[in-house]
Formats: sequence, structure tokens, C-alpha cells
Amino acid sequence: MTSSNSDIIRSNACAGQVVFVAGGSSGINLGIAQRYAELGASVGLVSRSQDRVDAAAATITEAGGKAIGVEADVRDFDAVQAAMRKVQAAYGDFDVVISGAAGNFLAPVIALSPNAFRTVIDIDLIGTFHVFKACYDFIRKPGASLIAITAGQAVRPTMFQAHACAAKAGVNLLTQTLAMEWGPAGIRVNGIAPGPIGDTEGMARLAPNAEVTARLKGRIPLRDYGTKSDVADLAVFLGSANAKYITGAILDCDGGSILGDASGDALTFSKRG
Ligand code: HXC
Ligand code: NAP
Repeated sequence: MTSSNSDIIRSNACAGQVVFVAGGSSGINLGIAQRYAELGASVGLVSRSQDRVDAAAATITEAGGKAIGVEADVRDFDAVQAAMRKVQAAYGDFDVVISGAAGNFLAPVIALSPNAFRTVIDIDLIGTFHVFKACYDFIRKPGASLIAITAGQAVRPTMFQAHACAAKAGVNLLTQTLAMEWGPAGIRVNGIAPGPIGDTEGMARLAPNAEVTARLKGRIPLRDYGTKSDVADLAVFLGSANAKYITGAILDCDGGSILGDASGDALTFSKRG
């Protein structure tokens, strides 16, 4: 289970909440699910593999939390709807929906086949459309909080990431458009843009060795990767009443990465004078 960064969040703060997590079998999204479960929520986890979501749910239930895993590919709208029906039957209407399923790899456009580009658009962008559109019939209205897991690449062109940049840019605008369309129904729709988060498949793919890792960390204003717990705490905040006037926001949780390359040494520079 993740451990909280914050003493402010009480241990039963999410009791009674139902949280649906698309792409919840590993990484950042599972970290969010584990954190919600620690705080008393019931969690439905979805991924392409029943074995993987079962194993993920077991990390929660073995620690005394409430979770079920359901297999569904977010590229298949009917499968997403069916998974939501199962989670609703188990726990009731959803208070929080996390759309975090994603696929990514480093590839220059010259090495990206049309199917490779389409695959990432299908999982990240069309998948988020499916999850958010389908959930309308399963969420608490008013009151639900929908959270897309996006990335800084949505607003920052990044070489070898054309597919992910395009997909996540679409996710941001979908999120903000839905915030406008569904705000009157009392539904908030926000995004979290994690920066480089340690111990994840994403960073294993984007920074596959120690040299690249050190170079990347040296550019981050806060000089380190974030943790899954950092993202989880932000998701819990966005799902809470403390965030009741926040919608359409894309919140960076990235150590300042989005600001640009901070590899300069300001302290040495000022000593030189
Ligand atoms: C070039 C590649 C490739 C690579 C796959 N393809 N890997 N092309 N370089 N490294 C191509 C394949 O050749 C194929 O095209 C097409 O992509 C589809 O591949 P499949 O393996 O058939 O797809 P599928 O089984 O659906 O798997 C999807 C996947 C895979 C995205 C390719 O990597 C996956 O399942 N990923 C999920 C886990 C993941 O990526 N986690 C990291 C998320 S982190 P052809 O033309 O040959 O048919 C993340 C980082 C955030 O998103 C920061 C940036 C946003
Ligand atoms: P991860 O562990 O690979 O998580 C991706 C999840 O999506 C897995 O649970 C995977 O499960 C699921 N998934 C993939 N394709 C799916 C599909 N078609 N249908 C249903 N589920 C699918 O990666 P991560 O690094 O933690 O990334 C999680 C999220 O954070 C992603 O949205 C990513 O873009 C974002 N993000 C990550 C970082 C980072 O530093 N890692 C930075 C910025 C943004 P199965 O394989 O079991 O299907």
C-alpha cells in the first residue's frame, strides 16, 4: 500500500466513496486506488487482464481494503460499460472515476507505423472518451469527480513522443470540454499531469538506464522523480469536498518539470557574481 505524504488527510476520509479506476492494474493508477482504499473507499479496478487486476485488487483486500478487479479494454466501449455495471452492482454509484489507461514507448515518427500511432491514440484518448462517456450513467449526480491522468507532453512537444503528445493533448481538451458540459449537473472533471514518477512502467520506458535517469533528474527544478503517493494524494484531494469549486483544471504534479530545463546552477552562478 502507498503511504500518505499528508497528516491532514484523515484515515477514514473516503469511507463510503466508490472509486472506479480504468488502467488500475499497476503503477500510478494502482497507487491512487490503494490510497483511496486505505482511506476507506471501495475501489473497482479495470485493465486488459483479469489476472493483473485480480493481483492488484489482492494488494488492497489483503491489507483489509475493499476492491474488485474487472477485465475490460478501454478501446471497447461496450466492455467498459459492462465493467462499470459490475462495479456498480458491487458497490453502488461512483463518486470518483479515474481514467488512467495508457500505452507509450519511445519512437521517432519515422519509426511509428500508422497502427502504432493509432494504438496510443486509441488507448489514451479514445479510451478516456469511452470511460467518461460511459460513466455518466453510473456516477453520483451531483457530486461526482472525474479525473483524467494526462501528462506534461500534452502541452510540451517532446521528441519521440508524437503519439503520446497528441493523445494526451486530446485528453486535456476532452477533460476541459466535459467540465463545461457536465458542470451544470454537478460533475467536476479535472486532469492530473504527473511528471516523472519513480518506480513506474512509464519511466522504465522513457528513462531506461541510470545515465538517462540522472540527466533527467538534473533538469527537474526539485531534482528528483515524484512518487506514486504524490499523485495519489492529489487525486484524493480532487475527489474530495475540499476541491468542490475546482473543475476543468489540469494540475501538474511534476516537481516543476513543465517549467522547462532547470539544469543551470543558480547558486554557483550567484556566487561568481
Ligand atoms: C515502435 C511500436 C513499439 C515501439 C509497439 N509498437 N511498440 N512501434 N516502437 N517500441 C507498434 C507495434 O509494432 C504495432 O504496430 C502497434 O504499435 C501496436 O502494437 P501491439 O503490441 O499490437 O499493441 P497492444 O498489444 O495493443 O499494446 C499496446 C502498446 C504496449 C502501447 C504497444 O506497449 C502496451 O500494452 N503498453 C501498456 C503499458 C504502457 O505502455 N505503460 C506505460 C504508460 S506510461 P504494427 O504496425 O507493427 O502493427 C506513459 C508515460 C507517460 O504513458 C508520459 C508520456 C505521456
Ligand atoms: P502502467 O503501470 O503501465 O499503467 C498503465 C495501466 O493501463 C496499466 O494498468 C495497464 O494494465 C492499463 N492499460 C493499458 N492499456 C489498456 C487498455 N487498452 N485497456 C485497459 N487498461 C489498459 O504505467 P504508469 O507509468 O503508471 O502510467 C499510468 C498513467 O500515468 C498513464 O496514464 C500515463 O500516461 C500517466 N503518466 C505516467 C508518468 C510516469 O512517470 N510514469 C508520467 C506522466 C503521465 P494492463 O496492462 O493490465 O491492461
